[in-house]
Amino acid sequence: MAKNAILVAIDGTQAEQWIPLLKARAAGRDLRIWPAAIGDKADIAYAFVWRPPQGLLATLPNLKAILNIGAGVDALLTDPALPRLPLARAAHPDLTKRVVGYVVLHVLAHHNRSAAYAAQQRERVWREQKHPSSDQVAVGIMGMGVIGGEAAEVLARLGFKVAGWSRTAKSVSGIESFHGDAGLDPFLARTEILVCLLPLTAQTNGLLNLALFRKLKRDGEAGGAFLINAARGKVQADADIIAALDEGALAAATLDVFPQEPLPAESPLWTHPKVTVTPHVAGDISPTAFADHLFAQVDRFERGEPLANEVNRERGY
Ligand code: NAP
Ligand code: GLV
Repeated sequence: MAKNAILVAIDGTQAEQWIPLLKARAAGRDLRIWPAAIGDKADIAYAFVWRPPQGLLATLPNLKAILNIGAGVDALLTDPALPRLPLARAAHPDLTKRVVGYVVLHVLAHHNRSAAYAAQQRERVWREQKHPSSDQVAVGIMGMGVIGGEAAEVLARLGFKVAGWSRTAKSVSGIESFHGDAGLDPFLARTEILVCLLPLTAQTNGLLNLALFRKLKRDGEAGGAFLINAARGKVQADADIIAALDEGALAAATLDVFPQEPLPAESPLWTHPKVTVTPHVAGDISPTAFADHLFAQVDRFERGEPLANEVNRERGY
């Protein structure tokens, strides 16, 4: 008889949080925990994964579906042995709220001159910095999907002039929309605070480079061009960010993600005065919010329904 066991393969310290919670909510389901307690691989029908080792999923002969515990599936899709099975990603209000909160925090920090006030406080300086009203500042969101679309709407409600850039055309009230290769330069030319919420794909790899930063609007009311990347590190070229900051194409950057994570201790980004570094935490999805959704996905699939938020392998996201 088919066992329909569920493999849980979560990389890194997040596993400590997830595993007890998944066990507590398993309601009699047979959970197999990687790496110590997989048992007979032939029993496994579903896999709940976050950055599992390459090749692991290909060793499960009766696997039926893969559920990613995160929005981005780039780490899975670069596994040459990834089985061609239904694959779903995380698109959940908890995750969206967290990343949107991160983006809004850092847009407002740049807009409100937070770095300058922090420096002034260290020197006991009481001086008002000039800053424009939000409706004079142009924010551009690259990636108008689940997270980018919501970030755009929240920032527009705060009064910013918001535009989005995506692969396909969008029509969102109050948001200027650009798409495709032809839409990129005009989008950049009007953007002062650039927010990246793109998936990592062959098309977006290395997109945030010096040539692109030079196309941003830096003579507007924002006081320069700013970058916030809360998506994937390989979309950006770290050396180009430093070069753009040093030549003035960028005024400051907030980076949650890096081509190499953890960010190496010798990276100049750690100490650059115009860079804010966070350790890939913009949207750590909460297990309490997401565990039940994972089990519900299994139940849907068992009823013969398609998985929610299925990834399109050809598109890469
Ligand atoms: P999503 O719903 O799949 O949206 C992706 C957006 O990017 C879509 O608007 C898509 O355009 C656009 N896009 C993809 N390829 C493009 C291209 N070549 N040119 C222009 N636009 C392109 O994804 P999401 O749920 O919003 O998440 C976005 C990314 O954020 C994830 O892939 C993940 O890497 C990252 N993320 C990071 C954290 C963190 O902690 N730092 C947390 C969560 C997510 P269309 O709408 O036309 O398809
Ligand atoms: C986090 O980086 C995610 O993709 O959910």
